[in-house]
Amino acid sequence: MNKIPSPRRGLDILDGYHSPQLDVSVRLNTNESPFPLPETFTEELEFEIKNLELNRYPNRSASELCLAIAERELLKENEVFVANGSNEVIQSICLAFGGPERSALIFEPTYAMHSQIAKITGTRVVDGFRDAEFKVDTNVALELIEKEKPEIVFLCSPNNPTGNSESPELINSILSELNSTGGLLVLDEAYKEFSETSFEPTVREESNLAFVRTFSKVWSLAGIRLGYLLAPEWCVNMVKTVSLPYHLDSVKQRVGILALKHKEAMKRTVDVTKEERKKVFDALISLPIKVWPSEANFLLFKPESIDAYKLWQELIEEGILIRDCSSWEGLEGCLRVTIGSENENDIFLDAVRKILK
Ligand SMILES: Cc1ncc(COP(=O)(O)O)c(C=O)c1O
Repeated sequence: MNKIPSPRRGLDILDGYHSPQLDVSVRLNTNESPFPLPETFTEELEFEIKNLELNRYPNRSASELCLAIAERELLKENEVFVANGSNEVIQSICLAFGGPERSALIFEPTYAMHSQIAKITGTRVVDGFRDAEFKVDTNVALELIEKEKPEIVFLCSPNNPTGNSESPELINSILSELNSTGGLLVLDEAYKEFSETSFEPTVREESNLAFVRTFSKVWSLAGIRLGYLLAPEWCVNMVKTVSLPYHLDSVKQRVGILALKHKEAMKRTVDVTKEERKKVFDALISLPIKVWPSEANFLLFKPESIDAYKLWQELIEEGILIRDCSSWEGLEGCLRVTIGSENENDIFLDAVRKILK
């Protein structure tokens, strides 16, 4: 019999990414924007695509897009790196700064891909844990950094799937520790625009702080796969050394540049989502359900009168898909719902009321 090749050590124990993609009418499971960008965006894109030289390789450093992002963030072009979704940015960071005999500190429960990508790149994952309200305790964080000397620390703010933001005090404390151990603080800000927490540290050459952002949420472009890194030049340069040549196609580069011109649409998405978040929060909390306050475009909740998995399944029968976190460590019995359009949220709330009756 043919002997098939075995995967490299460590990969065999990994489980992959599991978030069911079911054919339902109301999809509130992956924190996408329910609103497409306006029609004018599509028209402009059509025009731009017609003028692209697709027989040529794309601009290798995506310089126009990096410059557009840099201008928005008041940074320099070479403090920006763009990739195919922020997951690819995270992967590039792990390839550049992680790897065998290196470690990444993660505070669970958090975005599952931080540990998954770290492991795929051979980086050892050090698990820190959040407190009962899902906050990272500064002393716990500093002790772990002192003991483990991780090369990377991932912090997600607002945190997925719990919705809370990290405090500026925590971030500054971790940063000052890492500035002396030589570790990199990676602040994943996929949901930043939905948050009220004002923390405006910026990219500084002498500070080991990198921000990861995405076009998948507030920019309504999950389907295009575009994310970016804001970081000191030395960090961007190291990340560039591990990225593939011409990794970002020409169409995607144009999409990003055009999207940034639709700031008003983006802001409307954020405003409507925040209003709807309050509506969904108030409605859920009036039922036998524990709901955590959220600064993102989703809510974590725990039904108290029905098994969470049963509720999740019954919602699918109603044509509504949310995220089942009930078996994740630290999130036992919890579900996460993305804030959708007004209509989608109403359908979701009606269904929950009906099931809980
Ligand atoms: C915290 C966080 N970071 C990154 C991502 C991935 O975003 P992208 O679509 O840019 O890969 C997600 C997606 O849900 C997320 O929740």
